[in-house]
Amino acid sequence: MSEPFDDEDDEEAVVAPLRSVAPAVATEAVAAEKGQRVNVGLDVGTMNLVCASLNQASKVDITTLRNVFLTVDKTDLGEMDLSKISHARIDDSIFILSNDAYNFANIFGYRINRSMQKGMISPEDINSADVLATMIRELIGGEATGGRPGKCVYSVPADPINTRSNVLYHQNIIGRIISEIGYTPEPLNEAVAIIYAECADTDFSGISMSFGAGLTNVAVVYKSIPVLEFALNRGGDWIDDNVAMAVGTIPNRVVAIKEKDFDINRFDSGRKKERKVREALGYYYTNLIHFVVKSAVKELDRRDLDLGFPDSIPMIISGGTSLAGGFLDLVREQVQQEEWPLALSTVRYASDPLSCVAQGCLIKSLKS
Ligand SMILES: Nc1ncnc2c1ncn2[C@@H]1O[C@H](COP(=O)(O)OP(=O)(O)OP(=O)(O)O)[C@@H](O)[C@H]1O
Ligand SMILES: [Mg+2]
Repeated sequence: MSEPFDDEDDEEAVVAPLRSVAPAVATEAVAAEKGQRVNVGLDVGTMNLVCASLNQASKVDITTLRNVFLTVDKTDLGEMDLSKISHARIDDSIFILSNDAYNFANIFGYRINRSMQKGMISPEDINSADVLATMIRELIGGEATGGRPGKCVYSVPADPINTRSNVLYHQNIIGRIISEIGYTPEPLNEAVAIIYAECADTDFSGISMSFGAGLTNVAVVYKSIPVLEFALNRGGDWIDDNVAMAVGTIPNRVVAIKEKDFDINRFDSGRKKERKVREALGYYYTNLIHFVVKSAVKELDRRDLDLGFPDSIPMIISGGTSLAGGFLDLVREQVQQEEWPLALSTVRYASDPLSCVAQGCLIKSLKS
């Protein structure tokens, strides 16, 4: 009998159902009637593209697409009917998009492609921007929202500290894609969006940490005004790659274990190699949390800002990587060990860590 880590089921490990995320924000804004302009919030993430819009009942609708694709050779497809499959034809190539890409990866044994890495458009595939444009159109195009395009506030990362980055290029390309669909684009820092979604009760003041796939973004916002924004070059992908390297498996396999039922403090379930993955995940998760919390304190100190806010502010933890069991407790533990230049009232999760960036973008689009 084969070990659960044999290569033959490696691709199967990446097949993940489209997650449905519960809408959490009620806004006082009224949804557009049919034919009226529709504003949307769009989280352009390394792993997930998330759209928030208001439906006819003025409730928030959330739609998510995995930001992955597959380049397929025409001869492999033969006479296959692609009409029900999310795909794009660019030049002579066919690209299967998002969740359908996972299924095709299984059939043909292909490696999945990512249109973004480290929070920005991937320079590794010349087709990244075109493929991303197709997926964004699928999420926010007229058919998806049922109205005429209005404003689209979209998330962008901050410049990662200590690394070179192409945020400027990324931000402009996404803006161009959105305006070609017909919307008026407006970029918004990802971590600032979390404060807009979560901190109405503190007059939009707080510190947020978004633990994503490509980056971790941090922001301090006081009464809606961003005081500090920065990103760190580590996230879920960094954990996956390092764990895979450490235990001799592929990142997809690590992702499958991590997203299913991983707890930072428990290494004991599964067979031998799975236990090794869990142990390594625990070490890298712990390291990530220490790194982010220490970096936040260091950046706050280094910028020497006057942070004598009259009230203490909440810290909001968000992003897919923060969903691991034991994550919040470890953040709280680490936060308590540091000396903060501002007063914290609480350290808590965002109400929906996978969609709050899109919801914050939507709120901004409706208020500005
Ligand atoms: N239940 C879970 N437990 C642990 N990790 C998870 C879970 N669900 C998703 N993840 C991880 O969260 C990450 C995706 O999170 P998220 O959607 O917030 O990132 P993103 O916004 O696409 O990326 P970024 O903000 O860095 O551009 C991936 O690394 C994914 O493997
Ligand atoms: Mg993100």
